[in-house]
Amino acid sequence: MKILAFAATNHKASINKQLVTYAANLLAENKSADVEVLDLNDYEMPIYSIERHTENGIHPLGQKFFDKIGAADVILVSFAEHNGSYTAAYKNLFDWASRIDMEVYQGKPTVIMSTSPGPGGASSVLASAEGSAEFFAMDLKGSLSVPSFEENFDTEKGILTNEELASKLKGILSKLG
Ligand SMILES: Cc1cc2nc3c(=O)[nH]c(=O)nc-3n(C[C@H](O)[C@H](O)[C@H](O)COP(=O)(O)O)c2cc1C
Repeated sequence: MKILAFAATNHKASINKQLVTYAANLLAENKSADVEVLDLNDYEMPIYSIERHTENGIHPLGQKFFDKIGAADVILVSFAEHNGSYTAAYKNLFDWASRIDMEVYQGKPTVIMSTSPGPGGASSVLASAEGSAEFFAMDLKGSLSVPSFEENFDTEKGILTNEELASKLKGILSKLG
């Protein structure tokens, strides 16, 4: 099983990256799985514009991201929330990839998460991703918002310490096989 995981942010010390890495390792446990965690800093490119697209075609990093999704068996994403919505880093990458094919997630079984330092747990961006999943061919298996990251996640051990949330996550991940 090829597991592709990424946090939808370019924050180098991303809390969503810590969460999605934990989830990917949990899913890989007791399986012969290959985990790849992408860093969106490796996919930074000019802001999508119709002129750039028309003049130069799809940016190679947009194609690379699209192909990574295509090569995966399952996808895990954790969304950071900026002003109630997607981070610019994710939105730009997603916009480029969506011009290859609007079905960016290519029917892949996907679990989405989100976290933030506050009690909202980035649930607004998670709701956006959930609400639009079908338009982008995301085979959504479940979603989980983790509020108050510092209180619920042990950053040294890299584990979700809130038992209720950890158990919910395990239940959702079990739907990925
Ligand atoms: C520009 C900006 C806007 C933000 N807006 C929100 C927000 O709307 N909701 C929220 O819960 N946190 C917000 N935050 C705080 C982020 O949740 C916090 O930076 C978190 O670390 C982002 O996740 P990441 O570390 O995975 O990038 C914002 C942070 C920045 C820099």
